[in-house]
Amino acid sequence: RPAVAVLTSGGDAQGMNGVVRAVVRTAIGAGADVYAVYEGLQGLIDGGDAIQRFDWGSVGSIQHRGGTVIGTARSVEFRTREGRLKAAANLVQRGIDRLVVIGGDGSLSGADLFRAEWIGLLDELVESDRITPDLARRHSHLVIAGVVGSIDNDMVGTDMTVGADSALHRIIEAIDALSSTAASHQRSFVVEVMGRHCGYLALMSAIAGGADYVMIPENPPPPGWEDEMCERLRAGRAAGRRDSIVVVAEGARDRDGAPITSQGVRDMLEERLGEDTRVTILGHVQRGGAPSAYDRWMPTLVGHAAALEVLEAGPDHEPQLVGVRSNRVHLTPLMDAVEATREIPRLIDAGRYDEAMAMRGSSFTE
Ligand code: F6P
Repeated sequence: RPAVAVLTSGGDAQGMNGVVRAVVRTAIGAGADVYAVYEGLQGLIDGGDAIQRFDWGSVGSIQHRGGTVIGTARSVEFRTREGRLKAAANLVQRGIDRLVVIGGDGSLSGADLFRAEWIGLLDELVESDRITPDLARRHSHLVIAGVVGSIDNDMVGTDMTVGADSALHRIIEAIDALSSTAASHQRSFVVEVMGRHCGYLALMSAIAGGADYVMIPENPPPPGWEDEMCERLRAGRAAGRRDSIVVVAEGARDRDGAPITSQGVRDMLEERLGEDTRVTILGHVQRGGAPSAYDRWMPTLVGHAAALEVLEAGPDHEPQLVGVRSNRVHLTPLMDAVEATREIPRLIDAGRYDEAMAMRGSSFTE
């Protein structure tokens, strides 16, 4: 009987529960034993109660809940070989040789390294008498699949990462709320959104929220942007616009690589325009709360496909990232996706680069 484990790792994201639920129920339906690993990759190392057998009912009433009910962590220990040795021992002792990992590129690369090292890890465990040769022989392969859980929409190989849609909704609610108070006082607001390397949330929320200006990491504004931004906001006021909204991604930079901060933009607007300007940093509110409808059905789709992928893959399979393209399940070799993400700005892969080029540093409201 095959045994599948599922875990969530790295920063949490709305919709992770939907993936867990779909993996568990699909694998049970296919006749497999299913385990949930608590606290991400760290749970593999800790073993004990951190690895629990799940049945159909274990994942009831979780799809609509935010966060991840099986916990997550950024495990430092899993980056060490000793940590991965402990993890391998915990898996073979339970007969688990298939793993679905839900997380960002760091967690998925860690899982892929674990898979690549698998035979060597088992040899070392046998040599140090931590497992029997027979146990090692019966688990000679680890099969993995990855699903990207990240609000940033920051991975090549899928149109959307699990959580990005919900985060975008949360940002739009905030921008709508800020617009009304801004308009009442004729104020400007600088709204800082998450996205260390990827401007997806900033760009899309600026478009959907009708903001006046946006800064994203992928496309630093040209020299003189400060004058241009102020001039556009001034022109908006002169034309009768009562609210001004500037969206800044947390990872925004200028062409010299210097950070563009929300506070810096606020100070600039106050000084140059004499505007009453406020900063709102949305922070972890973007990651919390209930998933959107999309972040329930899409995770179900990819979780179902990921469970089938690990159950059907042969021993020599190449690990896949299970994502969506045009609302259909789409598989990409996992490490191709991770490597491409480091090379290609994410917005290009998502077909958003032209929008980014056109919108960055320009007013959306003219
Ligand atoms: O990767 C998702 C993300 O939300 C980033 O946008 C943000 O910079 C980071 O996580 C915050 O992480 P933490 O919760 O560890 O502070």
